[in-house]
Amino acid sequence: MRQGTTVYLYELAWILPSIAIPVGMLAALVVTAFGANIHLPGAAGRVDPTKVTETAPFDALGVKEIAPGQYEVRMLAQVWSFTPNEIRVPAGSTVHFWATSRDVVHGLFIPKANVNVMLLPGQVAHVEARFAKPGEYLMICHEYCGIAHHTMAGKVIVTSEGGSAPHPNLPPQAGAGKAGARSAAISDPRGRELAGLEERK
Ligand code: CUA
Repeated sequence: MRQGTTVYLYELAWILPSIAIPVGMLAALVVTAFGANIHLPGAAGRVDPTKVTETAPFDALGVKEIAPGQYEVRMLAQVWSFTPNEIRVPAGSTVHFWATSRDVVHGLFIPKANVNVMLLPGQVAHVEARFAKPGEYLMICHEYCGIAHHTMAGKVIVTSEGGSAPHPNLPPQAGAGKAGARSAAISDPRGRELAGLEERK
């Protein structure tokens, strides 16, 4: 009899959390969906990945000043580079990134800025960040995308204010080849970039 009671309590200790956890998750789901208004991306942000280079805004890749201190970056990710893979803006700029992938799932992660998005083929990602301090901000792919995933990197170069005129950046189509050549030339971009960032501190 005593033995039976012990078993019952032990079971109860498992049964209660197994009810409480799903109920808690469901409550969190309801709160984020209806309270915080967070939903899955809608059809508005979709693009045909096979025609992405002919579809606005990805038919003109690069960096554009859209207002004083506001820059728009139209970016494509592909194995294993970003186009453009170097973005140059003056300090204090707010950069609006519009990005997608033309092949597999990639990521866009800028550890020293508030940028961390997945780039899904067919889905347009939008994120914006302010770059207050001059310096180089490493930009990496943080979703495994194949054998050379670890080489997929670029940078945002933030120049001191009152510096030179806006950089021409990458012209639309010269991008693919140039970016490829550049990333091939840098054997270990992350290591070198990180070393550079350390020095700058
Ligand atoms: Cu692209 Cu990892």
